[in-house]
Amino acid sequence: MRILERIEQIYAIGAGPGASRVGGSQGEQDAHDLVAGWLREAGLSVESDPSGNLLGRLPGEDTDAAEVWVGSHLDSVPNGGRFDGVLGVLAGLEAIERVGRRRRTLAVVAFRDEERGFTGSLARVEHGPLPELYVEAHIEQGPVLERASVPLGVVTGIVGVARGEVVVHGAAGHAGTTPMAGRRDALCDAAELILRVRDAAAATPEGVATVGQLDVVPGAANVIPERATLSVDARAPDRQRLGALVAAIGFEPSLLAEPARMDEHVQTVLREELERLGLPAPELVSGAGHDAGVLASAGVRCGMLFVRSGAGGVSHSPDEWSDPADIALCVDVLAATLERLAGARV
Ligand code: GLV
Ligand code: MN
Ligand code: MN
Repeated sequence: MRILERIEQIYAIGAGPGASRVGGSQGEQDAHDLVAGWLREAGLSVESDPSGNLLGRLPGEDTDAAEVWVGSHLDSVPNGGRFDGVLGVLAGLEAIERVGRRRRTLAVVAFRDEERGFTGSLARVEHGPLPELYVEAHIEQGPVLERASVPLGVVTGIVGVARGEVVVHGAAGHAGTTPMAGRRDALCDAAELILRVRDAAAATPEGVATVGQLDVVPGAANVIPERATLSVDARAPDRQRLGALVAAIGFEPSLLAEPARMDEHVQTVLREELERLGLPAPELVSGAGHDAGVLASAGVRCGMLFVRSGAGGVSHSPDEWSDPADIALCVDVLAATLERLAGARV
C-alpha cells in the first residue's frame, strides 16, 4: 500500500533511533519537503503559510464556500513512532485524491511543531484564515480500541493541556564539606515538587500530570544543586478540573490548550460512515492533545477519527503500531466523510 511505503519513508528521516523530527529540526523540514512533493504529484496547489504549515488544496467549484481541511502534523517527539501525526496527513491526502473535486475546496494540512506546544496550529488560528470544518485521523495512542477489538473510533472531546516550567532555587556548595544541616539543595526541593505534581493529579478525577524534563545547575556530582528547572504537563477533561489541578500544583502555564468538544455533526457523519461499513463506532475522549483541539477552541467545527493502536497502545515510542488493514479502513471512512462534508462531485 502506497500510504505504508510513505509512512516508512518519513520514518526513515533523521538520525534515529525511532522517529527523529522534533519541531523546528531539519528532520521536520525534510518531512515537509517530501510531503509537499507528494501533494504536487497529486495535482494539489501547494502553499506553505508564514508559520511553515503546509497546505495542499483541491479548489472546489464554489470558491466562496468555506473550506474543508483534513490533516495532522509531521513533527515527532524524540525517538518517536511512525504513525503519530504522519498517519493523519497521509490518510488525508489519500482521501482527497479519492474523493476528487467537490463543491467546496478541500485541503490537506500539515501543522508545524505539534508536539512541543501546537506551534503551527496556534499560529494559524491567530493569523487565519481558517476552514469551516477540519477532520483529523490519528493513531489512538492508547489501549481502548485494541481491548475492544475494534479498528476505529470517534473522538468526542480532547483534554485540556497546561504546560509550563518551574524553577527551584537553592545554594551551591561543596558536596563533601557542607554539613547536611542547613543545606539548600534545589534538587531535593524539586523532588518534593515532583511528588506533589503526581499526588495532585491522582486527586483529580481523570487528571494526569507529568514532569518529563529536569535540568540541574551546575550539574556536577560533587556540587550541591543550585538550581533545578522542571517541566510540568497537566491535563484534565474540562476547564474546571484543569484549573484546579494547575492551582494545586502551583505553576504558571506558558501553554494552555483548552479542553475541546468535537462537532456533533462531524461526529455523526463519522459514526454513520463507520456503521455503513458494518463497523462499531465507539466514542473516545482523547487524553493526547491534537491540532484539532486548537482549531476547535478557535471555532472550527472539528472531528477526529482514531485508529486502533497495536502493541498495547504504546505511543511516543518506536514500538507504536497500527495494522495496515486498520489504516486502509481509516482512509475509507475519511474519504466517505469528506465526500459528505465537501458536497457534490463536480
Ligand atoms: C501530543 O502528542 C501531546 O498530547 O502531548
Ligand atoms: Mn500527534
Ligand atoms: Mn504525539
